[in-house]
Amino acid sequence: MIPLSIPHLAGNELKYVTDCIETGWVSSAGSYVTKFEEMVADFSGNTYGVAAVNGTSGLHLAMHMLGIGIGDHVIVPNITFIASANAVAYTKAEPIFIDVNPDTWQLDLDLLEEYLYNNYVPSIKAIMPVHVLGNMCDMDRVMSIARKFNLHVIEDSSEALGTYYNNRHAGSWGDMNVFSFNGNKIITTGGGGVICTNNEAYAKRAKHLSTQSKVNPETYFHDEIGFNYRLVNVLAAIGVAQMEQLPEFIKKKKAIDAYYRNELKGVGDIKFQKVQNGVDPNCWLFTFYSEKQNEILKTLKEHSIIARPFWTPMNQLPMFQKSKYITEYDHSKNIHKNCLSIPSSVNLSDKELGKVVQVIKNVF
Ligand SMILES: Cc1ncc(COP(=O)(O)O)c(C=O)c1O
Repeated sequence: MIPLSIPHLAGNELKYVTDCIETGWVSSAGSYVTKFEEMVADFSGNTYGVAAVNGTSGLHLAMHMLGIGIGDHVIVPNITFIASANAVAYTKAEPIFIDVNPDTWQLDLDLLEEYLYNNYVPSIKAIMPVHVLGNMCDMDRVMSIARKFNLHVIEDSSEALGTYYNNRHAGSWGDMNVFSFNGNKIITTGGGGVICTNNEAYAKRAKHLSTQSKVNPETYFHDEIGFNYRLVNVLAAIGVAQMEQLPEFIKKKKAIDAYYRNELKGVGDIKFQKVQNGVDPNCWLFTFYSEKQNEILKTLKEHSIIARPFWTPMNQLPMFQKSKYITEYDHSKNIHKNCLSIPSSVNLSDKELGKVVQVIKNVF
């Protein structure tokens, strides 16, 4: 079996986890949590990092901290993983879905700007750009649109650790920005997330809220309704070991991306995700477009190669069917119908990569 995107635990993971177990520091306090937060914040060009149990809880906390709630609206791209939209829904606010660019598959900024010019209402509080597949849109433009309409920006950078736009790291523009360390991400803690920010007050509040808003641990005094969202030390220990290997992982992901692009170029109707000028992507998960999506998926499965169609667009999901969806041509539908992701783990061998390519070529 050739998996899609699995963890590569080849560094100090066992050593650091053993240290947690031997010293008894396995829970939510411990030096690896702080170290991991610092490493992720430093790497992504942020001053502060606050670790959370996963990316979804980080996004929820960010929404909550901005006071987003009933009657409010948050702009989210229509092509994203469900967690982005769920984080908005948890606060009882409504997402407004905007279609994506047909070439980059990122939030369509022309559509976003046009929508806000014609339809801005004060209930729209924030934009959540999602760096889909570790690619990016023009974040400078997002920020200038946000400034014009006085909107908060929360970058869903879950997939974009190691991605840059104009030499600035993904997840360093917004008020708060969230990275995920789910098992399929470029590095993993098994499950985990980090909220990054350059705002000290946000960082302090995120830590406070994620630890049940505990003011005094001895008297059990809590000053507001908080959450039990803190990442535990034993998982952060894995994260520290993974961060040490991140530069190598990025190199490997880029090599996989270059290999696939080279081998699959000109094969049938295959088209690649466009990377716009200035973006240096982490190449997290190789995904391409072909109208033979179904046939390729079926054939790969027959060869025990794990591949996946792209996410169902948010407007097609039952719980978001009543939400606004802003589109001209419904590119999301086409992208979902025709795109598929193929094995991209950092530990893939040349032989496995060759096999994936050969099976795809045979479909044509
Ligand atoms: C775009 C996107 N947003 C949010 C998440 C949620 O992260 P997590 O699984 O860590 O909760 C993920 C990944 O799983 C994701 O890919």
